[in-house]
Amino acid sequence: MSEVKTYQLTNKNGLSIEFIAQGGKLTKVLIPNGKSYVDIALGYDTAQQFVDGDLYIGALCGRFANRIENGKFALNGQTFQLEQNDNPNHLHGGFKGFNVKEWNVEPIEKEGCTKAFKLSLVSPDGDSNYPGELKVTTIYGITEKNELLIEFEAVTNKTTIVNLTSHPYFNLNGTGNGTVLNHTLQVNANEFTPLGNGVPSGEIRKVAGTPFDLNQPKEIGDQVKSDYEQIARMKGYDHNWVVNKPSGIMGLAAKVAEPVSGRFIEVYSTQPGIQIYTAMHFDGKEKGKDNVPFIPYCGIAMEAQGFPDAPNKSNFPSCVLNPGEVYKQTIIYKFGW
Ligand code: GAL
Repeated sequence: MSEVKTYQLTNKNGLSIEFIAQGGKLTKVLIPNGKSYVDIALGYDTAQQFVDGDLYIGALCGRFANRIENGKFALNGQTFQLEQNDNPNHLHGGFKGFNVKEWNVEPIEKEGCTKAFKLSLVSPDGDSNYPGELKVTTIYGITEKNELLIEFEAVTNKTTIVNLTSHPYFNLNGTGNGTVLNHTLQVNANEFTPLGNGVPSGEIRKVAGTPFDLNQPKEIGDQVKSDYEQIARMKGYDHNWVVNKPSGIMGLAAKVAEPVSGRFIEVYSTQPGIQIYTAMHFDGKEKGKDNVPFIPYCGIAMEAQGFPDAPNKSNFPSCVLNPGEVYKQTIIYKFGW
């Protein structure tokens, strides 16, 4: 088996980020910690384990990140049936999503970035039953403001649906060092989309008076104990919030912070929603970096994206892409320590 190549993005402040072409997966996020560093990205010790292990850790997700109910949607009167890889729903693009595809990687010059790479792929017409040939590029860039910039672009030759995101899990104590329950979470949103049967019901609900009101930072451990039905049934967060800003405009979506170390991550994005997931599915069976098992709440994923099941919800922002249009979305993770 040939060795999996890793690519590095480093800045002058000591921030160092690594990724691989397979799934575009972010494999390391090293932030300075005194004279050393701490890796805050969940994952595995070797790049090959990233290819073989839990499919979504660190990955780029597409063509449609998140869930589509029963894998079914209609466009211009035609019904499409996608893979029901998260029974009975479609999740993160299906069995051969962008998270398992090999992206073409080339270094590029990018204004404002110390270092940048362009990842590209062509998803053929009919790929996993999605209509249209989709040409996708993702730019990963690092700045001297300690940001990881992620810029998505996609074009199609037939009307289709697109929802792209990045799926790292972070633990600001350092990956493998317990859970994120002592972190605080802030989400810039007055509304969220409650779950019906695994996907949003279509309701857009005010967060006021619920554990989804994170306009002021709150400790994750306190919130996931709530008996509020939407939390209790999931034992945590696995929900989409409606970010307080017009879609397409860059703004703060969420911030996670660890009070003892002072480390934080701010997520800025042009996307209309953010799915926040506190990693309840990890059950300790699979091992990650340094052979430490992935346990519930061992990381948090903050996935700026369109709304889940948008193709079946006419009141959600459209995720339809037509020929001649360019899908463009940006996510920035800003790291602080
Ligand atoms: C998240 C999703 C979770 C889970 C995870 C992948 O985006 O919200 O429910 O499926 O991806 O394991």
